[in-house]
Amino acid sequence: MKATESGRAETRPPRGATTRALIVGPYLTRTGAPAKASPPTRSMKAPLALQSGLPQARSPADRLAEATKLADAIELDVAHSLIVPVTAIRPATFIGSGKVAELAEMVKTEDVGLVVMDCALSPVQQRNLEKAFATKVIDRTALILEIFGERARTREGALQVEHAHLTHQKSRLVRSWTHLERQRGGFGFLGGPGETQIEADRRQIGERIAKIERDLDAVKRTRALHRRQRRRGTHPVVALVGYTNAGKSTLFNRLTAAGVVAKDMLFATLDPTARLIRLAHGESIYLIDTVGFISELPTSLIAAFRATLEDVLDADLIVHVRDASHPQSEAQRQDVEDVLAELGLDRASHPILEVANKIDLIQKTDGGTQSPAIPEAIGVSALTGEGISDLLAAIEDFLFSDRDIFNLAMAGADGRGRAWVYENAEVLSSEEDASGGAYMTVRVARDRSAELVKRVAAGGGKSMLKENVRDFRLRSQARPRR
Ligand code: GTP
Repeated sequence: MKATESGRAETRPPRGATTRALIVGPYLTRTGAPAKASPPTRSMKAPLALQSGLPQARSPADRLAEATKLADAIELDVAHSLIVPVTAIRPATFIGSGKVAELAEMVKTEDVGLVVMDCALSPVQQRNLEKAFATKVIDRTALILEIFGERARTREGALQVEHAHLTHQKSRLVRSWTHLERQRGGFGFLGGPGETQIEADRRQIGERIAKIERDLDAVKRTRALHRRQRRRGTHPVVALVGYTNAGKSTLFNRLTAAGVVAKDMLFATLDPTARLIRLAHGESIYLIDTVGFISELPTSLIAAFRATLEDVLDADLIVHVRDASHPQSEAQRQDVEDVLAELGLDRASHPILEVANKIDLIQKTDGGTQSPAIPEAIGVSALTGEGISDLLAAIEDFLFSDRDIFNLAMAGADGRGRAWVYENAEVLSSEEDASGGAYMTVRVARDRSAELVKRVAAGGGKSMLKENVRDFRLRSQARPRR
């Protein structure tokens, strides 16, 4: 965020708890003009949730509370937060002139150093508001970018954030330049110091973007290689997804004891982290933690994080972690599913297991682990550990359902047969007898069962089918989903 149009405030707010911020929720009232009344800018298409008409599902108070929490996440000192009902978006300032004057007064008396507008501002609106308030103004996209920037832990994450930042900024620079051109039109000349500076800034940003894209390509190739390596191993991939603050990192920690950052801050996780974990019956899975989703995530940001979320599309099972204690749990679920659909996730081929987290915060009615808020999901508390073994068992059931368990009596001389078993089946237990033979319990993929039986018999041994693992897939698909 170095190169900016000359004379314009940088969008990056100063660091530290000393920046006093004013959070403004300029929300369209139901009777007001629809969202499309705002001319879409090139840098920000209509946010996803707006496309689905979802903001109406959240009350203005909830939306403001979330914006305030987002501001908290970058340690701004929130001096004041307020809702400004908007009946029609003003092209110049988004909100009406009376409100602008009122807020300008508040900025002065409250000694505010940054105004956060929880909406998508056009560059012109941002500049006009900065002028009127005589302070920095950022919109929701810039706020989310700030958070992403602070939380990026891997090189890929950092590159993606910078790319999104610069792309956002470059298009604003172009628009601002066009705007200046229009103002200057009457003078009948092109060029001048302003244009030269902006042109230079644009070129510099363009070069930086090209360099980042080359670096990202290299990082992506490495990631693809890792992904292929994971694929080559026989272990299935399980991806945790969920609305921001749902408790993914805490659950990931609980499941892996991997020590991923889990804080009471939004977006504590920006980069996916994969860990190999062993399940109760010896099978292993790759567990992947992902970035938290949020409503009204601008489409440009989704595109930037598509690569990070490619792992999700590749997963054998997606575990959707929901905060069952949150009053907007249902709207959050819809937001997450919308983002997944936007990423190209096909529900038919990508099974999703829903988990109702934070059940410790919910009044239980029947003493069971089922969350009253989300009855169809598996209730857990990542914090207390309640329900975790049920979740692991469900994952195991789901992934390894099409397997058979056999009891085998292997002949002592059948070394090749035993080697085949170790290679192709999962040995759950094994006990030698006096003659060098072995009694084994093994689990094998159903399409290998017939061969197992044949091999054991050919080596002079015996096999007996113990159980077909019940088909969890059927149970899960029976759930109604929208
Ligand atoms: P992002 O990184 O923003 O996507 O968040 P996340 O989904 O990874 O959430 P995280 O694990 O960071 O948890 C957010 C907050 O919820 C933290 O304060 C956790 O301690 C808290 N939390 C997580 N799970 C539980 C739970 O089961 N019960 C309760 N009471 N709190 C929980």
